[in-house]
Amino acid sequence: MHIHKYEKWWLVFGTGTLIVFLLIIGVSAFHAGTHPNNSKWTINYEKVNEIAPFDNPGVHKVEGKDWDYEVVLVASAFSYNPMEIEIPVGSTVRFIATTTDVVHGFEVAGTNINMMLEPGYVSEKITTVDKVGEYTVVCNEYCGTGHAMMYSTLKVVD
Ligand code: CUA
Repeated sequence: MHIHKYEKWWLVFGTGTLIVFLLIIGVSAFHAGTHPNNSKWTINYEKVNEIAPFDNPGVHKVEGKDWDYEVVLVASAFSYNPMEIEIPVGSTVRFIATTTDVVHGFEVAGTNINMMLEPGYVSEKITTVDKVGEYTVVCNEYCGTGHAMMYSTLKVVD
């Protein structure tokens, strides 16, 4: 088959542009690694329930740290442990969370708390909650058939 000279040039140019485009996408998507943006350290996700502090989920008052409370959270299809979190208004809280199975989200609607929980990684968020209220925690990563039913409550009390 005879290919016209210019046609051939455009073919090469088109293919080259496509490769450059894919490289840019690939590099920008993965240069920071594929782990979630809040992740601080790794964990064996099959043994989460045996590894501290995840062997003791819940709200813990702490002393001598930059935060007043530690909220230890374990997500699994399709619920959170604990189901309900209660913290005093104005306190600084360190949320540490992970998952025992698939990717889940931990988004507290109406606040700046929004973590992605990926198996094998521990996510962390330190924040101050300064408004009394009952906040809904939702899973914002599709995780399976029970995804829409996966929620819990954060109570900020006076
Ligand atoms: Cu868990 Cu969606």
